[in-house]
Amino acid sequence: MSDISKFNEIRKFLFEHEILLQTECLETFDELPKIYKSFLDDLKKLNLKELHQFSTHPYTSKKFSFAFCAFLEKIKSLEKVTKYDVIPTKLEPSLARKLRPKKNHELSLLKTLLDRSQSKTMLDVGGGIGHLSNVFVHKKDKKAYCLDIDVSLQEVGRSKILKWIYENKDKIEFINEDLFNCEKSFSVDLICGLHSCGELSNKVIDLYLESKTSEIINFGCCYHKIEKKQNISNEAKKKPLLLSFHALTLATRSNSIYTYEEFLKRFRIKQYRYTIHLYITEELRINDYKLKACHEKDYTKSFSEYVSIVYEKKVDLRFLEEYIKIKEERVLELFYIDFIRDLLGRITELYILLDRKLYLQERGKQVVLRQIFDQNLSPRNIALMNPSFLL
Ligand SMILES: C[S@@+](CC[C@H](N)C(=O)[O-])C[C@H]1O[C@@H](n2cnc3c(N)ncnc32)[C@H](O)[C@@H]1O
Repeated sequence: MSDISKFNEIRKFLFEHEILLQTECLETFDELPKIYKSFLDDLKKLNLKELHQFSTHPYTSKKFSFAFCAFLEKIKSLEKVTKYDVIPTKLEPSLARKLRPKKNHELSLLKTLLDRSQSKTMLDVGGGIGHLSNVFVHKKDKKAYCLDIDVSLQEVGRSKILKWIYENKDKIEFINEDLFNCEKSFSVDLICGLHSCGELSNKVIDLYLESKTSEIINFGCCYHKIEKKQNISNEAKKKPLLLSFHALTLATRSNSIYTYEEFLKRFRIKQYRYTIHLYITEELRINDYKLKACHEKDYTKSFSEYVSIVYEKKVDLRFLEEYIKIKEERVLELFYIDFIRDLLGRITELYILLDRKLYLQERGKQVVLRQIFDQNLSPRNIALMNPSFLL
């Protein structure tokens, strides 16, 4: 299927399910079309263990209705991204020092790709403490410009180099700039964004277009930070799907895998959050309310204790223990409907990424989308890059 056809199919599907996509089920549950309630009844046939499995790897089942299976099959076909199997390059101990498994995984795969590149100079956008820059230049006659808005990260990066990777000292230049207000121009061969949040990815793309840079690798993340830069390609502009903050948030946390314990924890958190919402809006009839921040451990306390921590108004705490039982079934339904909504997350991310890809293609650039990282370790794992990185 061509990119344009895939983009149009995704858009059509997301428009069909727009109410589910664009709003939070907590707010719109009663307005949702009946079909989603029937999907919910299908999910109710699963026990908690099965539901956990379903939430990480959605599957069709004989227990499900034909309509739900068709919905799931459609999503499965739309969210397919070619996985590019890269053989990781083991990082030298000085580069791998104190890296978390996620970062080690990402950098070992990117090292393989970067080593294939002829590029001598790289702009590492949102480069933080300079992990990627270090990998790019290490033991090579190369130079990296590591740009970040956060000077404290760059200080950590500088002292790390002086202590542990001294040989990279003159090969990395930290540039402290907000890329959105940056007057500098960059003359580099390669521009990289390893998880450039929100519209920072658009900035990476535009710098690539405006400069003489010949290569790009960009991984997006934090789509909920996107404010304006949506539907940037001409194809998208024909019938733009304007993603709400809730839809963008869904894309941001899509494709994540949770252990059973994490799944149960999430369940408990949602149960408390949803029940307090129902209590305040339906019992107290207050629509505009604020909750105080709390710790994860507060969700292990009784519901009334939790409420006394997060809600400053005086309420009947004894009644709350009864209330959570009364609302159990309703809250469970909200929890299930969230699962159905979560299924739209990855294709929403793909809508954004395909739009970016088409935007570049419409301007004469050859780029591909490939899944590079493992879903278990790094869910924002799709690179927008030149085919020159593929063997
Ligand atoms: C998700 S982190 C990725 C860090 C690094 N690339 C990595 O993979 O470890 C995004 C980085 O972008 C930086 N950043 C965010 N907005 C920026 C801006 N407007 N200009 C420059 N850097 C920015 C943040 O400070 C942060 O270090």
